[in-house]
Amino acid sequence: MDIIKKVIVSEEEIAGIVERLASEINKDYEGKKIVLICLLKGSILFLTDLMRKLTVPCKVDFMLASSYKGGTKNTGKVEIKDGLSIDIKDQDVLIVEDILESGHTLEYIVNILNKRKPKSLKICTLLDKPKLRVADIQADYVGKVIPNDFVLGYGLDYDEYYRNLPFVGIINPKYL
Ligand code: IMP
Ligand code: MG
Repeated sequence: MDIIKKVIVSEEEIAGIVERLASEINKDYEGKKIVLICLLKGSILFLTDLMRKLTVPCKVDFMLASSYKGGTKNTGKVEIKDGLSIDIKDQDVLIVEDILESGHTLEYIVNILNKRKPKSLKICTLLDKPKLRVADIQADYVGKVIPNDFVLGYGLDYDEYYRNLPFVGIINPKYL
């Protein structure tokens, strides 16, 4: 596929990562119940794979967050559509995110959610680009640390396309 320069997380590797993260979460939250908050749209595939491996009772809710307005440039502006239908007060909440880069998106969301007084609030991200971090945000569960390149697939888009690819790949620079 011409849009992909290199696959950096294969389908098999994703399955292994999801398995590992789920078992960490199952262990850490043993005896508890959690509310998973999936950040749309990039986290859909990750959420649905991860939740199938969870043994902890969980509720699921969604927020729509966008910072990339098409293309590969982070505009720095975070837009949130807060459609949560679950009251998270006194709940153990786990944010499920596709990729953590500058941290602006999660910083914004963590602030919003903390105002609702959850009992605990943690972050699980499939991918992490720590070298591009600007905000003071760390994930509690990290699937894989990757280089700074723009990636797509497995939920991640380029101009809203390619979310359906079953793997994560680096974009061919000629598209940038
Ligand atoms: P941050 O606010 O800079 O941490 O960016 C996080 C958001 O930007 C993620 O939730 C993604 O939706 C998007 N994003 C960051 N890096 C990439 C990438 O390499 N490919 C596609 N989307 C990305
Ligand atoms: Mg995202």
